[in-house]
Amino acid sequence: MNNKAKLQQQFSLNSKVTLQNHIVMSPMTTWSSNDDQTVSDAEVNYYSARAKSVGMVITGSSHVQENGVGFANELGVYDDRFIPGLNKLAKGIQDGGAKAILQLHHAGDKALPQFISNHDVVSSSAVAAPETAFAPAQTPRPLKESEILQVIQDFGAATKRAIEAGFDGVEIHGAHGFLIQNFLSPHYNQRTDKWGGSIENRMRFSLAVVDEVKRVAAKYADESFIVGYRITLEESEEDGLRLTDTETLIKQLVAKQIGYLHLSLGNVLTSYAHSDANPEPFIQRISKIVAHRVPLIAAGSLTTFEQMEKALNNGLDLVAVGHALVANPDLFNHEQLSITLSASQLNSINLPKTMFDSIKRIGAFSFKFTE
Ligand SMILES: Cc1cc2nc3c(=O)[nH]c(=O)nc-3n(C[C@H](O)[C@H](O)[C@H](O)COP(=O)(O)O)c2cc1C
Repeated sequence: MNNKAKLQQQFSLNSKVTLQNHIVMSPMTTWSSNDDQTVSDAEVNYYSARAKSVGMVITGSSHVQENGVGFANELGVYDDRFIPGLNKLAKGIQDGGAKAILQLHHAGDKALPQFISNHDVVSSSAVAAPETAFAPAQTPRPLKESEILQVIQDFGAATKRAIEAGFDGVEIHGAHGFLIQNFLSPHYNQRTDKWGGSIENRMRFSLAVVDEVKRVAAKYADESFIVGYRITLEESEEDGLRLTDTETLIKQLVAKQIGYLHLSLGNVLTSYAHSDANPEPFIQRISKIVAHRVPLIAAGSLTTFEQMEKALNNGLDLVAVGHALVANPDLFNHEQLSITLSASQLNSINLPKTMFDSIKRIGAFSFKFTE
């Protein structure tokens, strides 16, 4: 077998959905939506240029409430006015043969106040969030009980819009320290009501979002509709999220028969837990728990076909690829994948200029740059 053989085979995600290969485009915000957060033509071109290379495209995050925005010029899905643009996006992806998945999120304590009408940044609790490459240091306002229920409903309303726009599924963004993780985290969640404290209470929000999204999918879509879940396994804070917590949630997600579980990792092949003495990579530990009961995907630093094949042989059902697909839309036409970007090649790789400029300015990624 050559080094791409398994990657290029089809994969049955469930009894109704077959993917054209084993690669997933990892969700990546484009900073390129229109100023009113509707889908831009540049975004449609960017995604459709990559859709031929993968079995499934997960879009960059789209916010389910106005105050859930995590990036400048991010996709919005909190109002029906977004549906026509999202419909063009879903079609652009599907024309390439890939399934189209809309990533749903609320940025929580990492929301950008300058894009929120009343600068109202919310989270599980009023715990200070440190500055990141994307968001300022800020202390959010804790959500009231009625507002928590409203966010859950709004994940459902966003799912209905994704269905109306023609998407094949949605991914619940439970990773990267956004609102869902703000609830799961023992550091950021200091609540004393039923939404905080024990892991059973802290994961109540995640599970309620899953239940609501699945309820809406069952009502408005057919059985093939995919509801995936993306997760960060640990936090770096001393009293932060640990694998024992995330494993407990993962068991519940599997029991609820989510469409797939998507691990967000620094390095798929080597990342491991820092909270215990077990040196086994995360993908091997989690794949033993999931045991193919739902498809397992992971992203993180996969930049060669050998690494991607190895990840499939080490417990993953599908590999998610970010950087390498940004730089190489026609992935399988390359023997070696580069993650170098240059302003002169933006047209040839269908990369929106605002995305290139943002990546370069923010400087938080692994891309290299040439003239
Ligand atoms: C430009 C860029 C934008 C990203 N935006 C998102 C996002 O919207 N949602 C998300 O879950 N992850 C986001 N990520 C993380 C990627 O999905 C992925 O997990 C990470 O880049 C590691 O995979 P890679 O090394 O193959 O790129 C982004 C990454 C990049 C490079």
